[in-house]
Amino acid sequence: MAITSVLALLLLATLSPFSNVSAVGVNYGTIGNNLPSPKKVAQLLQSTLIDKVKIYDTNPEILEAFSNTGIDLIVAVENYHVANISTDTSAADEWFSDRVMPFIPATSIVAIAVGNEYLTTDPDHLKPNALVQAMQNLHAVLVQRGLDRKIKVTTPHSMAVLASSFPPSASTFATTLMPVMTSIVGFLADTGAPFMVNAYPYFAYRDNPGTVDLEYALLGNATGVHDPKGYVYHNMLDAQVDAVRSAVVALGFGNRTVKITISESGWPSKGESGDTAATPDHAKTYNTRLVERAQSSKGTPMSPKESIEIFVFALFNENKKEGGVSERNFGIFNGDGSKVYDLDLSCQFCSGNGGTLGFGEKMSSGLRGPSVWCVAKPHADEKVLQAVLDFSCGPGGVDCREIYESGACFVPDKLHAHASYAMNAYYQMHGRNYWNCDFKGTGLVTFSDPSYGTCRYSQQ
Ligand SMILES: *[C@@H]1O[C@H](CO)[C@@H](O)[C@H](O)[C@H]1NC(C)=O
Ligand SMILES: *[C@@H]1O[C@H](CO)[C@@H](O)[C@H](O)[C@H]1NC(C)=O
Ligand SMILES: *[C@@H]1O[C@H](CO)[C@@H](O)[C@H](O)[C@H]1NC(C)=O
Repeated sequence: MAITSVLALLLLATLSPFSNVSAVGVNYGTIGNNLPSPKKVAQLLQSTLIDKVKIYDTNPEILEAFSNTGIDLIVAVENYHVANISTDTSAADEWFSDRVMPFIPATSIVAIAVGNEYLTTDPDHLKPNALVQAMQNLHAVLVQRGLDRKIKVTTPHSMAVLASSFPPSASTFATTLMPVMTSIVGFLADTGAPFMVNAYPYFAYRDNPGTVDLEYALLGNATGVHDPKGYVYHNMLDAQVDAVRSAVVALGFGNRTVKITISESGWPSKGESGDTAATPDHAKTYNTRLVERAQSSKGTPMSPKESIEIFVFALFNENKKEGGVSERNFGIFNGDGSKVYDLDLSCQFCSGNGGTLGFGEKMSSGLRGPSVWCVAKPHADEKVLQAVLDFSCGPGGVDCREIYESGACFVPDKLHAHASYAMNAYYQMHGRNYWNCDFKGTGLVTFSDPSYGTCRYSQQ
């Protein structure tokens, strides 16, 4: 067994680097008094195509709940704690060793968001330079601990950091923020971390329904909006991303640029009376398209080949959030786990049903005690999956007859399905340790039985 595991590692280590593995991220805010326990949330997300979760703090219950789930987590330093971490690396080290260290490596923490919209929030109390210093201190701590390649340090901005966002090619950061943005972008470029932006076409539409085309705001395929540099935009989100891209380029980093990640985007299902934009139908349309977009490898007009990582806002309606009605109604799910509207987050080979069940329905089927299976992540790289399949059915010793022609699991004749079958068999054979379901990051432990029809996924 030890020898086959080593073989697997060697084999998988020699594969070509990952190409774009698109996945869907979600923001998991917890300002509500009716939300399910983190443990339930983690279990339930495992049966969806969501495999990245961003939170707004370092809630230990959440960090614990996501251990060994195959779901990546982005944790955050709250705005009020940024100044503390900026004082020196020992303050940053204290924060890291208290809040994050106890949970790794079992919990896959891939980034730390330092503050949230820090530069455009509460300017009287927050100091821009503290943000940069805090990011540098945290990065220094990660370097000391040899964790800087796994855990990236970044900070999500609001679109309000831009002086103007139209036309996209002419966009720049607000003049007062130029110095701090220069430091931040330099830091991100040096450390290979993404530039994060929270982008909400909803607000632009809501505030100017007469001038903004709804289809353009709803991430549709609207009549093109022309940029003087020749780019044509069919939806506002692309234009917003390219506005940020132009502002970054205008800082003069030339070819040393950074990847842009949409750290938040979404559409509320309910707003103030008279808000005709915030409806369940529009929310469903926008978020369905957003999830599709997250899974595609599509870029924007200025950078068509660069796929964009996206975190949907948000997992739950948060009934204790302050502000207007819409603020409490961005959720895909209600606090009780029912869906606010029907958004398809199903992942055929993560779940036995392959349907479009809401959390409420999953809860009963999810609570089946210690039954666990291993399957391929929804958007795992095909080259890696092929190597996993070849290994498992060869030196790995898995009996793969069921996925060969005339076997019960031959249909669907898809690499992803066949790899899932083989990965599960391997995982079951080797004692169901989470590391036996890693497969170079392509495996996912699930609590839902992936079996279908006469195709049975074995259990230990
Ligand atoms: C920073 O926070 C830590 C832990 O909460 C605390 O012990 C320390 O006194 C704080 N330092 C400053 C400068 O506020
Ligand atoms: C968008 O609409 C145009 C014109 O109607 C069409 O040519 C194009 O294929 C559409 N693009 C997508 C992605 O549907
Ligand atoms: C980036 O620009 C520098 C200086 O202009 C140049 O030397 C370098 O080759 C460029 N790198 C790439 C990858 O284009």
